Amino acid sequence: MSEPIKLVAFCGSLRKASFNRMALNAFIERVPAGTAVQTIEIDWPLYNAEIQAQGFPDKVQAAQKAMLEADGIVFATPEYNYGISGVLKNAIDWLSRMTPQPFAAKPIAMFGASGGVLGTARGQYQLRQNLIFLDGRPVNKPEVMIGGAPSRFADGKLTDEATGKLLVDLGASLVLAVRQAKAAASVK
Ligand SMILES: Cc1cc2nc3c(=O)[nH]c(=O)nc-3n(C[C@H](O)[C@H](O)[C@H](O)COP(=O)(O)O)c2cc1C
Repeated sequence: MSEPIKLVAFCGSLRKASFNRMALNAFIERVPAGTAVQTIEIDWPLYNAEIQAQGFPDKVQAAQKAMLEADGIVFATPEYNYGISGVLKNAIDWLSRMTPQPFAAKPIAMFGASGGVLGTARGQYQLRQNLIFLDGRPVNKPEVMIGGAPSRFADGKLTDEATGKLLVDLGASLVLAVRQAKAAASVK
């Protein structure tokens, strides 16, 4: 029996009827057995170094702790104006200022749903670029870009089987990356 795996997940949309939230729920339903996912809400104040100087907000500190304790990270990202949402960037900016910096060396999976045909491709590539600076380890495949989102969800649930299969494969890919990272750490 292999060790359980802990993931933390972020959704870059705050709206209740978010397709990215639905996609995240679908991902969570499909993770490999023995994997637990904790979702972190990111309705945080806007980053300001003067607030930071008085102490990181409690929610940011709690997120850092959960991330440091987790084996991997998951992002469900919308695409806003060819980039990630301000809400998600704000969360990343806060967390990037913490010590230890909680993205460093963490295996990461990302996916996104949008109304457009490219399904957050441009947003995800911006997120990958942010993660280079933060030394995160995003898995490369499969890319899960859920275009035409309104046609792939109904009554709050994913209805498109091909997307469901991609989410299964992404969860497996992340868990494999986590296991490889743990194995590498154990021989150091
Ligand atoms: C400010 C804003 C910018 C957007 N820009 C894009 C975009 O660049 N590409 C795209 O495919 N959809 C864009 N959209 C449409 C979103 O894909 C759509 O609103 C999607 O449902 C947002 O994700 P959510 O359902 O998780 O909230 C934009 C929406 C908003 C509100």
